[in-house]
Amino acid sequence: MNIYDLRSDTITKPSEAMRKAMYKAQVGDDVYGEDPTVNKLQELSNKITGKKSSLFVSSGSMANLITLFINGGRGKDVLMHNEAHSLHHELGAPAAIAGVNPIGVPGERGILRSEILQEYVNPKSGAYHDAKTSMIIIENTHNFAGGTCYYKENLKDVQSFAHKYGLSLHIDGARIFNASIATGLSVKEISSYADTITFCLAKGLGAPVGAILSGSKEFIDEAKIVRKMLGGGLRQSGIIAAGGLYALEHNIPRLIEDHINAKTLAKCLNGKAWAKVDPNTIETNILFFDTVGIPASKLERKLARRGILCFATGENTIRFVTSLSVTKQDINSICGIINSLEI
Ligand SMILES: Cc1ncc(COP(=O)(O)O)c(C=O)c1O
Repeated sequence: MNIYDLRSDTITKPSEAMRKAMYKAQVGDDVYGEDPTVNKLQELSNKITGKKSSLFVSSGSMANLITLFINGGRGKDVLMHNEAHSLHHELGAPAAIAGVNPIGVPGERGILRSEILQEYVNPKSGAYHDAKTSMIIIENTHNFAGGTCYYKENLKDVQSFAHKYGLSLHIDGARIFNASIATGLSVKEISSYADTITFCLAKGLGAPVGAILSGSKEFIDEAKIVRKMLGGGLRQSGIIAAGGLYALEHNIPRLIEDHINAKTLAKCLNGKAWAKVDPNTIETNILFFDTVGIPASKLERKLARRGILCFATGENTIRFVTSLSVTKQDINSICGIINSLEI
């Protein structure tokens, strides 16, 4: 039986060509700043984000944590969407390790808006017993809102709110290249609205390990120290950085295929009595659909028996994620299985 893995875009595996690039990578001790491949990856990331400095880190979670450590601060409120990855899927590390007080803020389609943020911000001039707000995180694309994107007006809105209250603004851009392709905004332009940004190499881009954190030179100098404190100072990490470099040089334009595939799946599900999804709401490579008349966990098992792997994320919600591991032909086969499913 063929297996079609729609659980996440984190399941992608390095291609033969990427593995060759990793095999051949020049390396050095990166804690001494002497790994040429890591340095090349960080320089390319500066160009992509338009920031002065970038740091190769082990994961997106580590990039978010380092930023919270530096720009959040102990006992400070950090505003993020109430379904943010940092709030629910980073093991409480923002509070447990960085010491911040994460505050979940509602927002349609995962998008934070100034008029709602206004109700949650604690200005520095407020009552002394209130934790002061130090930072905002926006997630672009927003994973659990269904791969949704911040458009220019959303970015401007949050940026001017952050400026008004002197808050640091961080973009959790784990899938920023998906957002860039879907909105037509370059990653450089998106980054220009924020102080710091992270993006992942080990998701849709297909590298096996790593993420990038970008910001000012002073911020990244500090981030290097915090990365080491967290046990993330790696030595000959050029071997893994080479995978990231290859991904940035080769795998960005093809992300559009994942978006088209996600929409195709949504259209296929749309006609079924047991699924509810509006294909017009699919912006990138993540789609959520509601199950009708069958619990999501049961449908997840039913699909798995036919070779389609996915996650039930709620009692009546299932998530599909498309990636380079699932070809257009695979999507056709998945639609065939969906069409023949008896519920
Ligand atoms: C939006 C978002 N941010 C951060 C992360 C964390 O990335 P990592 O798995 O590399 O820690 C993820 C992972 O899925 C994510 O979806």
